[in-house]
Amino acid sequence: MGYETIRLEYEEQLAILTIDRPKALNAFNAKALQEVELALRVVHHNAQLRALIVTGSGEKAFVAGADIAEMVEMTPTQAREFAGIGHRVFHMMETLSIPTIAAVNGFALGGGCELALCCDLIYASENAKLGLPEVTLGVIPGFGGTQRLTRLVGRVRAKELIFTGEMVDAAKAKEIGLVLEVLPADRLMEHCRSVAHKLLKRGPLAIAQAKRVIEFGADGDLRSANELERQGFSMLFGSEDQREGMRAFLEKRQPMFKGR
Ligand code: CAA
Repeated sequence: MGYETIRLEYEEQLAILTIDRPKALNAFNAKALQEVELALRVVHHNAQLRALIVTGSGEKAFVAGADIAEMVEMTPTQAREFAGIGHRVFHMMETLSIPTIAAVNGFALGGGCELALCCDLIYASENAKLGLPEVTLGVIPGFGGTQRLTRLVGRVRAKELIFTGEMVDAAKAKEIGLVLEVLPADRLMEHCRSVAHKLLKRGPLAIAQAKRVIEFGADGDLRSANELERQGFSMLFGSEDQREGMRAFLEKRQPMFKGR
């Protein structure tokens, strides 16, 4: 598939999605959003894939936000449409059944930070800067940032970041729980690959269930969420992977999960 603004590459069961508009610091224009959506469909329908890494092209930026040049003259109706597309694409990212890892290799601002927030795990390079600077442009985050950041770091920290519009460096992002680890820039992808390779060895059905239960449960009450866990746990006992995983343990060998 010939993409213009992204790259989608494969390393066996691992897919790597790179936002590729380095001259605009990988800012999301409509085309890039559309291509990310297409790529996520391709990933979703490829049953061989077991993990996805998302990153930005070049050394300076992950994604520096939605494309300001495209937004400047938007009417409220057009902005509503644009935010709708962003929400749809980011929801797709968040609900992929395979685990997703954001490799934040520089600026992750506005829509870029919101993209990272849709990934399951976020790792950052030492030169990364994250933030939601929309109020400095007279608007608010529009691709889920007000909600996902708040759920991740809490209301007060989210308000500080969103009201001031200031970026935090990677160390501060780790301190507030926005990123998991901070790596030297030249080790970031290697680290993300090594985490992905760990996940490739685990039962894919189990990871998909864990992700579903965590995501749905986090927004619900504990009782319903625990019921969801019980369903997920019990359903897995209908899979070959459950037999394989437990037998392999008892037979003191590595399991060979097939995803069924
Ligand atoms: N949209 C469009 N173009 C962008 C962009 C963006 N979000 N971010 C950077 N660029 C472009 C710049 O216009 C510049 O283009 P030219 O070379 O043609 O002038 C190029 O990328 C390089 O950027 P700078 O020269 O500004 O690089 P810098 O190192 O001096 O600064 C930066 C880097 C601090 C990230 C700065 O570019 C910046 O502040 N960018 C905007 C960040 C931002 O406000 N993001 C939020 C957007 S709103 C949003 O995302 C809404 C939403 O929630 C959906």
